[in-house]
Formats: sequence, C-alpha cells, structure tokens
Amino acid sequence: MDEKDNENAPFEAGPDWEQRYMDQSTRWEREGLNPAFTHWQGMGCFEGLGQVIIPGCGRSPEPLAFAHLGAKVSALDFAPSAIAFQCEVFAKAEINAVIEAADVLQWKPEAPVDALYDQTCLCALTPAVWPDYVRQLQNWLKPGGRAFMLFMQTGKDGGPPFHCPVETMQELFDSAYWHWPDEPFFRAEHSNEKFELGVILTRR
Ligand SMILES: C[S@@+](CC[C@H](N)C(=O)[O-])C[C@H]1O[C@@H](n2cnc3c(N)ncnc32)[C@H](O)[C@@H]1O
Repeated sequence: MDEKDNENAPFEAGPDWEQRYMDQSTRWEREGLNPAFTHWQGMGCFEGLGQVIIPGCGRSPEPLAFAHLGAKVSALDFAPSAIAFQCEVFAKAEINAVIEAADVLQWKPEAPVDALYDQTCLCALTPAVWPDYVRQLQNWLKPGGRAFMLFMQTGKDGGPPFHCPVETMQELFDSAYWHWPDEPFFRAEHSNEKFELGVILTRR
C-alpha cells in the first residue's frame, strides 16, 4: 500500500481501492507468489484441497496457483480492476473459477467450503468490522476447514494496512471456534519492509 498517501487516512470503501489500482499505487503486491504460499505448498498443505475462497483477491497470482493445484477457486473483490484482472488471467489459462465482484462482509458461498486464503484482506478492513468479517470466515468454512491467514505486521497505528497483532488475532479468532497451531508462525517478508505472519487456523 502506498504509505505516503494512506498512512492515517480514514478507511474508504470501494472507490479508494479501485483508485489505487488505477493509479498503480499497489505497494502490497509482490513479484511472485507469497513465500508463505510456497512454504505451505512445499509442506503439502494444499494437497487434496477442494474448494478455496480467496477474499480480497486483488491482482494476486495465488488464485491461479490454487487452480493449477486442482482447487476449485472462488475469488472475491469489490474493486472492478481486480476482478477484470483475475477474469482475464483465468480466461487465458482456460480454467473455470468463480470470480465475483462482491463485498466480503456480505457475500455467502452456496455451501460451506474446505479452505480460505486471506492474503491481507483482513488488514485492509477497518478493525471495527473485524468481528463481522471473522464471523463471515467462520460461516464460509466447513467444520475442519482451514483458513490460511496472512496477518499483516506493521507495528504502527492506523491503516490500511492495519497491524494485526497475534494477541488481538487470538481474541478475534476465538479458540472456541478455531484451532490455533503452536508458534512460531511463518514470517513472509516483503520488499516494502512489512511482513505477514502465516497461520493455518482450523475451523472447529
Ligand atoms: C491489500 S489488498 C490485497 C490484495 C491481494 N490479496 C494481494 O495480496 O495482492 C486488499 C484487497 O481487498 C479488497 N477489499 C477491501 N475491502 C473489501 C471488501 N469489503 N470487499 C471486497 N474486497 C475488499 C481491495 O479491493 C483490495 O483488492
């Protein structure tokens, strides 16, 4: 994210994000796959994955990478540029996927699914709506389903991206509903000097 423009800026919905794509002000993007994705893939975590939801997919390469691994992909974003980008990528690859312009706080799958992959969608939302968002994630997953979470670490106030401290995440993703693995969590570095903590949470 372009910190210069957005640090301490009030959270804006769709048009703000769309504008960032139009301005190419997308410092959160990486050249390739997120190192956590590659790590989890190497550990066999994606084997036999059925359906995976990718909220706030942006223009990231992970939806197609999941599809290449045989997953049925549902990729969501409310920024038209992000959706157009993913549609084009999937059309070129001749792979079917559900790519939907939708608000992640409202959208519902037809039925609960096996997995979701949140690559900096949570940190893009204002913390006031985090409990609503987490309820959504809970409802999207089958019991035993896995949430592949990338918790943004900025160590700063304000956002987006909003800092996602582990203690806050542990309260939000309550252990009554989610199984937490033991630390340490995978540290996914980024050339923008921020990093994410990769955690696989299992829906109870
Ligand atoms: C930090 S970007 C991450 C994009 C992508 N996951 C990546 O790693 O490149 C956050 C994305 O979430 C989308 N987004 C933010 N709030 C949303 C909402 N309420 N519903 C749907 N998409 C949302 C934005 O449009 C943006 O594409």
